[in-house]
Amino acid sequence: MSIQGKPVSASFVESSELVQPGDVNVYGSVFGGHLMSLVDKAAGICAYRHSEMNVVTISVDQLIFKSAAPAATILSIRASVNRVFNTSMEIGVRVTGWRPGSKKETLICPAYLTFVALGPDGEPAPIIPVIPDTPDQIRRFEQAGLRREARLALAQKMRVGNP
Ligand SMILES: CC(C)(COP(=O)(O)OP(=O)(O)OC[C@H]1O[C@@H](n2cnc3c(N)ncnc32)[C@H](O)[C@@H]1OP(=O)(O)O)[C@@H](O)C(=O)NCCC(=O)NCCS
Repeated sequence: MSIQGKPVSASFVESSELVQPGDVNVYGSVFGGHLMSLVDKAAGICAYRHSEMNVVTISVDQLIFKSAAPAATILSIRASVNRVFNTSMEIGVRVTGWRPGSKKETLICPAYLTFVALGPDGEPAPIIPVIPDTPDQIRRFEQAGLRREARLALAQKMRVGNP
């Protein structure tokens, strides 16, 4: 029996942004909230493209500001579906930066976001599975399972005693 699903490549998102003077903080590097918005937008488009349903962000994990990106940095934002669970899916995002004269891109901000797909009634609805293909996609698929266990266990722990 063949497993029905869509390949990771079908919903891969890649976009570029230039860090403009209005995007930086008082230290001259990109404002964190601006980066978070770019990350959420790319991940949301990826989730929407994969599920072909309305999607909402339910959680953001391990969003790390690894390196500062000064004005005039060209940001590349890449987002792909790591794993579909049932009504939710994990999207991995990687933001890198490049400046003229740099030999390679610098990692600026990796993050993992969970989106829930909503059916026509506005309730969580099942999402078509994703089919990982390359070794990297298979590794991300497996690690997404570990992250889900950790985030749901923590959410459950925090709920105990808190109505
Ligand atoms: C998303 C929403 C509809 C889910 O409602 P809910 O009653 O919590 O739904 P459920 O308990 O049925 O859970 C739905 C999915 O979310 C997952 N989920 C629940 N809590 C979670 C958490 N803390 N972290 C990650 N996933 C979580 C569940 O595991 C389930 O996924 P699964 O079916 O793949 O196992 C609701 O929480 C909501 O509307 N949140 C606001 C979303 C929003 O406004 N986002 C910002 C703008 S896009």
